[in-house]
Amino acid sequence: MKDKEIQKLIEKETARQKKVINLIPSENYVSKDVLTALGSIFDNKYAEGYPKKRYYGGNTFTDELEILCQNRARKAFGLSDKLWHVNVQPHSGSPANLSVYLALVPPGGKIMGMTLTAGGHLTHGQKVSITGKMWNQVPYGVDPKTEKLDYLALKKLARKEKPNLIVAGFTAYPRAVDFKKFREIADSVRLPAGRQGAFLMVDMSHVAGLVAGKAYNSPFLYADVVTTTTHKTLRGPRSAIIFSRKGKKLGDKEICVLIDKAIFPGLQGGPHMGQIAGVAVCLKEAAAPAFKKYAKQVVKNCQALAKELGKLGWRIVSGGTESNLLLVDTWMSGKGLPGKEAEAKLEKAGIIVNKNTIPGETRSPFDPSGIRLGAGAETTRGRKEKDMIKIARKIDTILRNGTKG
Ligand SMILES: Cc1ncc(COP(=O)(O)O)c(C=O)c1O
Repeated sequence: MKDKEIQKLIEKETARQKKVINLIPSENYVSKDVLTALGSIFDNKYAEGYPKKRYYGGNTFTDELEILCQNRARKAFGLSDKLWHVNVQPHSGSPANLSVYLALVPPGGKIMGMTLTAGGHLTHGQKVSITGKMWNQVPYGVDPKTEKLDYLALKKLARKEKPNLIVAGFTAYPRAVDFKKFREIADSVRLPAGRQGAFLMVDMSHVAGLVAGKAYNSPFLYADVVTTTTHKTLRGPRSAIIFSRKGKKLGDKEICVLIDKAIFPGLQGGPHMGQIAGVAVCLKEAAAPAFKKYAKQVVKNCQALAKELGKLGWRIVSGGTESNLLLVDTWMSGKGLPGKEAEAKLEKAGIIVNKNTIPGETRSPFDPSGIRLGAGAETTRGRKEKDMIKIARKIDTILRNGTKG
């Protein structure tokens, strides 16, 4: 590389990534093939529009690439072309979610989503996000005792508030989700115009790799729309995909047509074709038998980490995990260690986590009461349960140093 300044930074970051234990649940280590595709000459090409309907010439191979990526997305999640339309153009998870709302929810309409403190994402209608400014969030949380979803309470809330769209999907909820119940909740909503039911959008960003690997419930039987980032457990480049159910309509318009239009020309210009090449590679990898083993190991590793930390006296939010992540209460349980300090202490010792709000949060998102840990990245590096137990003990020693408990 001629640019020595950037080369040096890449080398430094490579060394950092090799050295640390990475427990950030939204990160992963992609394959060389993904990186090669991501950095390929497809990045040179403008391809505004969709396959066979472009606003630029020279798109023979980008068309082939985008169609291949769409087909691989359906294959990775076991979907039929007859039932599911795929858009692989969202530049990332936030624009993917935003475009679904732009397509399906009128300005000022209601989006029912989980609060940030309980585990929702900013784009699920939080006030600081455009999704909370253009639309009104109907916030929901978890049961304060179990710290799990309370489907009965959700149904009552939905029937009372009549949201246009319900988001089932989370950034810090460690448990399995019953998507069938979410479907029933969405169907129980009676909208004023007489149209029965709210749209159900599942944001499976965190668990997409687990869904592909059959280590987590699939939302596809029940959702109208499924959005996902591709860079978490799916182990692809930074990007996103929107799946929309064919035949589902808003008024007389197919929702997949509305969503495509919301992405382009509504929100974005040209698709990032290098990214789409990288996504296509990761989807082929996710459909391979070895990926099932990986996905199952992620959950097992996460559970081993949670169990050992619990044994060592740390309160695990909701008592455990069935996914790629877990939350540790470092403050409210009496340990007296704010999340920000816990994150900093661990980083000093080479363990990378992120501070996180927990249900019933009493502090601020900038210095919350807990930390979020995940097993996706370290499982890619080949770690197993016994390694996670060792990591849990290391975390315990580091955090205990100078704390109350
Ligand atoms: C559930 C969920 N949705 C959406 C996003 C947004 O993705 P991005 O950071 O790619 O915009 C995230 C990112 O953390 C997420 O966890």
